[in-house]
Amino acid sequence: MSGYFGSNKFKLGLFGINCSGGCTLSAAPEAWQANWPDVVKVAQMGDEAGIEFILPIARWRGLGQSWVWEKSFETFTQASALGALTKRIGVFVTAHVPLVAPVVAAKAIATIDHVTNGRAGLNIVCGWNADEFAMHGASLDGDKRYEQGLEWYKIFMKLLAGDKFDWEGEFYHLKNLTTNPLPVQKRPPVMSAGSSSSGQEFAAQAADIMFTTLHTYEQTSDTITRLKALTAQQKREADIYVQSLYVVRPTRKEAEDYYHYFAEEHADPEALAYFKRQKSASLAQATREGTSAADIATVARMRQENERYAGNFPGMNPVVGTPDDVVEEIRKMKSIGLAGGALVFLNYLNELPYFVQEVMPRLERAGLREKVAV
Ligand SMILES: Cc1cc2nc3c(=O)[nH]c(=O)nc-3n(C[C@H](O)[C@H](O)[C@H](O)COP(=O)(O)O)c2cc1C
Repeated sequence: MSGYFGSNKFKLGLFGINCSGGCTLSAAPEAWQANWPDVVKVAQMGDEAGIEFILPIARWRGLGQSWVWEKSFETFTQASALGALTKRIGVFVTAHVPLVAPVVAAKAIATIDHVTNGRAGLNIVCGWNADEFAMHGASLDGDKRYEQGLEWYKIFMKLLAGDKFDWEGEFYHLKNLTTNPLPVQKRPPVMSAGSSSSGQEFAAQAADIMFTTLHTYEQTSDTITRLKALTAQQKREADIYVQSLYVVRPTRKEAEDYYHYFAEEHADPEALAYFKRQKSASLAQATREGTSAADIATVARMRQENERYAGNFPGMNPVVGTPDDVVEEIRKMKSIGLAGGALVFLNYLNELPYFVQEVMPRLERAGLREKVAV
């Protein structure tokens, strides 16, 4: 199934509002602090503007000694709270597969789905930071994590289908499984951002929405073709989204200067070094050896080979310019088959109002989005 969140041609989501630093490796003083009243304001602003979803990042500790992600709100409880404070926006949770039992996730998602009358969604992540897993007494096996993820997903889905069953698998041995209530939605949407070959194979079997990165349009277009073929092999369909950092200003120069200021002059080298260290330690062997185009791209991204500035989170493509430039970029994204995008801003509360005021009406005029019903 595909086509979640209504009829807009290009869907939008707010990504990372639950974490200090959002999703930028910047130590600029005005970077996102994730103070709860601000998180609520941004969620409500997005809701009123017709943005389709809120996607939090599941974290258990910061990036080394950096302040980035040092503070983060837990995603299930946040989704329930933000769902109760908004009217139509989708509220996703992010579950780390080995750290949340499928029966817990199924019950929590069903609860959020009832609280929000059918707006819950799940981002399944299989982890990359062994330091976080150690906090739970769990270990991280780069070669097995997506196999475990698939087993987890099957149990989770069987529970949400209302089945009563025992499970004897490779990773889970569970007795007398059942859950009640079932969600309001028949099937809350599932996201995955697996980008390595095993990550993409997992996503093709489990996800309704798959994330990919955008470095060049040509490369991303090839990735989309590959992902669509992988999902078709599974007799499934999925929408493909991209995650981007937006810097929008009245002139291109202002936008470029501001991007340089926070992502280069105020880049946080400790955060990046820690990310690379942890990520490289958890790569599957196939990824380390660059077995496929997906694996080669995953390693290049981890090394930040394609980023202009050190404070740009690896794999987060920067969309920098005037409101018209931004609409042109989104038009190109749509033209290669991307169905939506997750938005990151240095400071969501400072930047989102301008995006809503200047970019969203232009997206409507360009036929990429519809006017929000009041
Ligand atoms: C939009 C998006 C959201 C993500 N959310 C999380 C998250 O909340 N927690 C996490 O540990 N990893 C998260 N990741 C990392 C992915 O799950 C995945 O590990 C990464 O894209 C690399 O793919 P790979 O695991 O196949 O190497 C996210 C990635 C993206 C692009």
